[in-house]
Amino acid sequence: MNSYRTHNCNELRPANIDQSVTLSGWVDTVRDHGGVIFIDLRDREGITQVVFHPENKAELAATAGDLRVESVIQIKGKVVARLQTADIDATNADLATGAIEIEASELNILNPATILPFQLDRPLSNEDLRLKYRYLDLRRANMQRNMILRHRITKTMRDYLDEQGFLEIETPILSKSTPEGARDFLVPSRLTPGSFYALPQAPQQYKQLLMVAGMEKYFQVARCFRDEDLRADRQPEFTQIDLEASFVTAEDIYNWIEQLLQRVFKEATGRDVVAPFPRMTWHEAMEQYGSDKPERRFGFKINDCSDVFEKSDFRVFSGAIANGGVVKAINAKNFSPTVGQIDSLTKTAVEAGAKGLAYIKVRDVNDRSGWKSPITKRLSDEEIQALTEKLDIESGDCIFFAAGPWEEACTILGRVRLECASFMEILKDNTEVDLFWVNRFPLFGWDAEEERYCAVHHPFTRPVPEDVEKLLKGDISTDICAEAYDIILNGNELGGGSIRIHEKDLQDATFRALGLDNTTIEEQFGHLLSAFSFGAPPHGGLALGLDRVVMLIAGCESIREVIAFPKNNRGADLMSESPAAAEPNQLRDIHIAVKLPEKLRLKQEAEKAATQQQA
Ligand code: AMO
Ligand code: AMP
Repeated sequence: MNSYRTHNCNELRPANIDQSVTLSGWVDTVRDHGGVIFIDLRDREGITQVVFHPENKAELAATAGDLRVESVIQIKGKVVARLQTADIDATNADLATGAIEIEASELNILNPATILPFQLDRPLSNEDLRLKYRYLDLRRANMQRNMILRHRITKTMRDYLDEQGFLEIETPILSKSTPEGARDFLVPSRLTPGSFYALPQAPQQYKQLLMVAGMEKYFQVARCFRDEDLRADRQPEFTQIDLEASFVTAEDIYNWIEQLLQRVFKEATGRDVVAPFPRMTWHEAMEQYGSDKPERRFGFKINDCSDVFEKSDFRVFSGAIANGGVVKAINAKNFSPTVGQIDSLTKTAVEAGAKGLAYIKVRDVNDRSGWKSPITKRLSDEEIQALTEKLDIESGDCIFFAAGPWEEACTILGRVRLECASFMEILKDNTEVDLFWVNRFPLFGWDAEEERYCAVHHPFTRPVPEDVEKLLKGDISTDICAEAYDIILNGNELGGGSIRIHEKDLQDATFRALGLDNTTIEEQFGHLLSAFSFGAPPHGGLALGLDRVVMLIAGCESIREVIAFPKNNRGADLMSESPAAAEPNQLRDIHIAVKLPEKLRLKQEAEKAATQQQA
């Protein structure tokens, strides 16, 4: 290859025996067998065993024996067959290079390593330590695999979209706020003191403007920035495969994304996924699973039991119905929760808005005394009978109830359902791939706190054709349906998009429905409205969360496992120690004075002093 190496560490085979070779890489392990030194030399491609015989070159073997793991070395030597006799088999079937080894004649230490902060060959639960030394963490085989997988998936997507005529176009990072529902990261402008750029939460407006610009089909491997609370599947900075096309309907977008994901699954896992993907409406998803990204690989579906309890003596249930609400229930089959699990499920329900979580543990379906619950006493024989039939209750099942407004009751049971499955480890060995669409979302939600409508997706989403008139007439309600769709994989939202508004009057009507006044509309969206008055084509698109796609295909629990340099769950990069305070002269240039509340200032000082003392 070059003067550093003639082969990589996964290349040499018995056919190479007797060749003189040069290899470079990291010392993976050093083993001393009575003075004979064995080194596993590693590079990105794999491992090759190198052997140093003291009887040939005593000094060389001694130097090799003293090497610390993870030092970078170059060796020269001859490829030989590993010993294989009737008594001894030194070959290693687990290694592609396991039939040979290199008899070293020369060793150059390119860079010695000191003692590592952690060992690379075993799992480390301290994620902060992994992130602080991410460049070491990334040397682990599974992390290398994840990065390679990410590259392959991205490349597959790029190639597919290119074949379909999409142009890869970059849009600005220093940009203006686009409402995607999160908080913006702001960047102060030095040239316009007192003004700020916003980092894009998504390239939404730019990609629509590219449609107005006649680009017809756009895509981008787009960096997005959202200042929101972090979770396992969320980073403040993440990547979308963002696309948009003109003169298309939702069917075109479905087709492209289905073919794209089919190709990605085939390339990355060898698996065939069947298209077209199933579709369900948002209402069906909520009604049956209590979630807009349902996990459908197990049962425990939500049932409506309002008819059973309409006239019930149990006021919690009948009262909810009288108030226009519903009583919903799930049957967790064969689940006998512990007291601790019931507490945890109740906490989950309360966090989702419930006042409590009524449940029945059915020990013996045929004997009322076998219905263990704080509420059974309040239920009539008829109610119990009706429930048994409706929910197909058998001995050993556990029933959970939520009474209240429809969406709230469904959401509560949706969360309880997932937690039951997690307690029961129902999905543990499930390798099924459930890819499907959720569509027909509501266009608007009601923000009870601010007492106004808000956009469920973003304000550029088009209503379905039959609801366009309502919006134009200002007849606003949460019943207006959006021409929006999310793609779901095993209960995770992989991506989402919509057909957009391309007419000035309809866009104006949406902004008004969201309670924006003329000045705000002009200030924030004047450029878009003006673009829509110069010949805007009908258009639509979607964005896939690349990190999530790779995470799920790699079988990881967190997107941090598939991002080279992620932030931790407090939004910090522990390796470079960002975010960090700015220098006074930097702040002066941009006319910014930092003014922390006294309590926070003292807390930060104390934390700083503590870390300095630790160091
Ligand atoms: P949306 O906001 O649904 O749509 O984002 C699209 C996809 O991006 C991923 N995603 C994230 N991944 C990691 N960390 C985050 N903080 C994060 N936030 C979102 C998800 C999500 O499905 N402009 C629209 C798309 C469109 O309408 O075309 C948009 O951004 O996988
Ligand atoms: P109470 O009559 O308040 O003692 O409630 C009886 C049971 O119903 C308790 O287990 C509560 O946790 C539960 N509960 C209360 N409100 C609701 C509700 N809206 N939906 C479901 N269960 C509830």
